[in-house]
Amino acid sequence: MAMPLIIAIDGPAASGKGTLARRLAAHYDLPHLDTGLTYRAVAHRLLELGLPLENVSAAETAARQLDLGAMDREVLSQHAVGEAASKVAVMPTVRRILVDKQRVFAADGAVLDGRDIGTVVCPDARVKLYVTASPEVRARRRHDEMTAAGRDASYQTILADIEKRDARDMGRADSPLKPAEDAHLLDTSQMDIEAAFSAAKTIIDDNLAVG
Ligand code: DC
Repeated sequence: MAMPLIIAIDGPAASGKGTLARRLAAHYDLPHLDTGLTYRAVAHRLLELGLPLENVSAAETAARQLDLGAMDREVLSQHAVGEAASKVAVMPTVRRILVDKQRVFAADGAVLDGRDIGTVVCPDARVKLYVTASPEVRARRRHDEMTAAGRDASYQTILADIEKRDARDMGRADSPLKPAEDAHLLDTSQMDIEAAFSAAKTIIDDNLAVG
């Protein structure tokens, strides 16, 4: 049987990897998992229960009980949940439980996006992309998104936030954000989503053509 097609997409916050992952999943007819949602769901459960985010055993229980099919993107996309998620994401035991679930999801072929897909979750993925853009470009995009949605947002606050999140994601001891050695780097600073999608598709199709 042919090896299942797994596409691993990593990159920092607001790099556009989520939109790219969704587009690629639709194009290649694969299921898609935004692994950031799994960390967000655990953090959200602790917030819901009124428990401190430092409570490792409660976070482990929430991770074990998590049903990937029941994650509500709208609730989990809240800013406070993202902040909380980056705190539970430093816990090695929580990571191990979530990584196991992410691997089960990927087993028959999928597009996964996150921070450690190419390095830890699916090191044998057929194609690995590392999507970046400068912090200023990412802050500008997030700012435009928020103002378009009618939400108040200061560019400087968003930029500071992105830099803080990068430092936390790249600086943690367990599974820090970094490109896998065999990842294709895609810097989207000068690209819109169409250009990024087309560049990613070229990388993937070239890879599949090699057989
Ligand atoms: O991409 P995001 O904002 O939804 O991610 C939320 C937090 O979870 C972020 O701080 C990074 C962390 N995360 C992680 O450690 N590993 C992943 N594979 C995905 C997200």
